[in-house]
Amino acid sequence: MPRKPTARVLKGTPRNLELLASRLRAGDIVGVPTETVYGLAADALNPNACRKIFEAKGRPVSDPLIVHLHSLRDLANVAVANSAALKLAETFWPGPLTLVLPKLEVVPSIVSAGLPSVAVRVPAHPLFRRLLKLVGRPLAAPSANPFGYISPTTAEHVRSGLGTKIRYILDGGASGIGLESTIVDLRNPAKPRLLRPGAITREQLAETLGCAIAWHPRRSGQIAKPQLAPGSLLRHYSPLTPLVIHTRASVALAARSAPKEAWLFISKPAGKLSKNIYWLDRSGNLRAAARRLFAQLRSLDTKGYSKIHAELAGANETGPAAAINDRLRRAAAK
Ligand code: TXA
Ligand code: MG
Repeated sequence: MPRKPTARVLKGTPRNLELLASRLRAGDIVGVPTETVYGLAADALNPNACRKIFEAKGRPVSDPLIVHLHSLRDLANVAVANSAALKLAETFWPGPLTLVLPKLEVVPSIVSAGLPSVAVRVPAHPLFRRLLKLVGRPLAAPSANPFGYISPTTAEHVRSGLGTKIRYILDGGASGIGLESTIVDLRNPAKPRLLRPGAITREQLAETLGCAIAWHPRRSGQIAKPQLAPGSLLRHYSPLTPLVIHTRASVALAARSAPKEAWLFISKPAGKLSKNIYWLDRSGNLRAAARRLFAQLRSLDTKGYSKIHAELAGANETGPAAAINDRLRRAAAK
């Protein structure tokens, strides 16, 4: 018989925040809201606590965690910054930007998957920020989903995926951004590399740093070299239902497919629409579409469709379209 979820979903009252902070200090793991997606947090300086994250998620230990700080002032306690990193941090923190930098020895090797670098960010979600301040330590947190499944954007998503494995989830409402943070490798500040597109766009990073940001978007069938971008397996964020992506989808194309196949558009298509037609944002606003993407994929995954067809957000890879298309490509990868 499947085990019943036991996790308690807690509102962010002062008392609950105190409770969660003390649990985190004692080495427990807690589901936490962030502005990007929900995370599964542990004391980043406690290797035994961090090990529980990998166990709960079923995540391979070769996939490093992101360390969350309360403020830029804490950066020097975990990583070696450089002027490019400080420029980006001053511009975009608190916010959905993660920087990869050389790590200091205090960061346990389980957090960095044995690498000499660490990924860090200062999150913007007010409840998570209050928790970070109360704990008084950096918190390691990957997305709070079973390894390989779609990242959670609500407390209920966390409960449905990890409710039998964790005891506490802090409810901070639906994540405002809805896609994981942008990750930039700044180990060599002269050659910044985008490891994962997100809400902070490559164009914004280039403008702030005054130089080009290298990026090698992965296409289906292409496998990233794990030593370059650990954890960035192509298959990731996948619904259980097979997903097929289309550069050009249309209602006419959808009408020719089987009725048990769903079609997910970026904006609402014109005309009379059958029940298997879905969209992310009525008017096609890409920020709104990104916010909705993971919840929509989860919802389609429960409706018994044999296949999900998804339209890409424009053919070019600029602005917020890059992040949406990256997640759709990963979800479609075999
Ligand atoms: O928005 C986010 O980034 C969310 C919230 C919770 O902050 N976190 C998140 O973590 O999405 P997740 O599950 O994607 O895992 C962190 C990823 C790894 O899979 C890896 O790609 C990258 O961050 N990463 C972590 N440490 C790294 C390092 N030292 N070098 C390169 N990439 C690293
Ligand atoms: Mg993840």
